[in-house]
Amino acid sequence: MKRFGVVVLLSFVVLMFSTLLYAQNIENGKALYNDTKLGGGNTGKSCNSCHPACKGIKPETANSTRLEDIVNGCITGPLAGTALQKDSQQMKDIVAYIKSVVKK
Ligand code: HEC
Repeated sequence: MKRFGVVVLLSFVVLMFSTLLYAQNIENGKALYNDTKLGGGNTGKSCNSCHPACKGIKPETANSTRLEDIVNGCITGPLAGTALQKDSQQMKDIVAYIKSVVKK
């Protein structure tokens, strides 16, 4: 019975920790979303210049498995930058931010 308590407590700690980490991803993602240097282009624009607070991003797109490709499409297109690795921390953070703003 004691062991059960320890497992419950540990799961709780892990859950709290991952929630905190995820909130951190969203914060970092927001900074990148507003960063005019993202992708290394020099258009002086950020994601936020064209999609202020994710305006115009549809919930279907935010939840699509293609979201990373679409984000890279805007980095290499309008931002004239270099695409991010799909599994990079920057991409994970931007995606976390977009998903946190664009609700179903
Ligand atoms: C110079 C303007 C411009 C910039 C900068 C820009 N985009 Fe876009 N973006 C567009 C246009 C135009 C479209 C296609 C039309 C639309 O859906 O609004 C688009 C489409 C999108 C879509 C698909 C929207 C949907 O639901 O159909 C996403 C997601 C997106 N952009 C994310 C980003 C992200 C993330 C960044 C920064 C890395 C960014 N965009 C930078 C102009 C821009």
